[in-house]
Amino acid sequence: MGWPFFYLYNLNRNRSKTTIIMRQKIVAGNWKMNKTLEEGQKLTSEIVHMVNDEVIDDVQAIIASPYIHLATLAGLVNGSSKVAIASQNVSQHASGAYTGEISCDMLKSVGVEYVILGHSERREYNQEDNALLKAKVETVLAADLTPIFCCGESLDVREAGSHFDFVCNQLTESLFHLLASEFEKVIIAYEPIWAIGTGVTASSDQAQEMHAVIRAHIAKQYGGEIAQGTSILYGGSCKPSNAKELFACEDVDGGLIGGASLQSRDFVDIVKSF
Ligand code: PGA
Repeated sequence: MGWPFFYLYNLNRNRSKTTIIMRQKIVAGNWKMNKTLEEGQKLTSEIVHMVNDEVIDDVQAIIASPYIHLATLAGLVNGSSKVAIASQNVSQHASGAYTGEISCDMLKSVGVEYVILGHSERREYNQEDNALLKAKVETVLAADLTPIFCCGESLDVREAGSHFDFVCNQLTESLFHLLASEFEKVIIAYEPIWAIGTGVTASSDQAQEMHAVIRAHIAKQYGGEIAQGTSILYGGSCKPSNAKELFACEDVDGGLIGGASLQSRDFVDIVKSF
């Protein structure tokens, strides 16, 4: 086969392969620094009951509570494959003299399965940069936990027109050193900072546009098949009234939900918005 034919042959093969890949739909609730233990137990029990009763089967719901509640809440979701527990952060170190830190092994030992990394609030208030997050991603994958890697631009960056480059660079610097077999375990959450907790949601066009750019960027590094298999969540003022429109976008595979995850009815309605 001459090269143009070989190229077309491969292109078609890849196309037909990629169209059959089903991405995992995911809705993760990020409680941030909210809820006492008692409130968290009540909220989790309600979510587990509602999700088990009302959600068919193909959506993974995730609860990301403060560290101190994780062990108790993992016990409450035990037995429901539809609800899992995440932490909102983890140390980049495996163990040792790091006062106040929490390790991946500790998280795993209490039943945590997912770890949110690089939320914009941690980037801003705890000086987490792309290099630190690169180390954290490695630690999380080495422990066989699943990272939910957050990226997203500020309003200034968007207004300057460099939002696509900014977000792609976050991925390049923190994730693209991974082997393909490691990268395919990563979940991405695109969260424009200007939409977080502000009530201003990205329009579905803005979300789809950025998600498509992220997927194309992943495809350049890891190929179309891995890019098509990567779940990319949207976060930023996502609520029951706008989740359906956002989740209907071709490249939006679910959401990372802040404020609306603090009420069981709202959160489960979002989980049901596909
Ligand atoms: P929000 O937060 O839904 O309250 O905007 C989203 C997030 O920070 O993950």
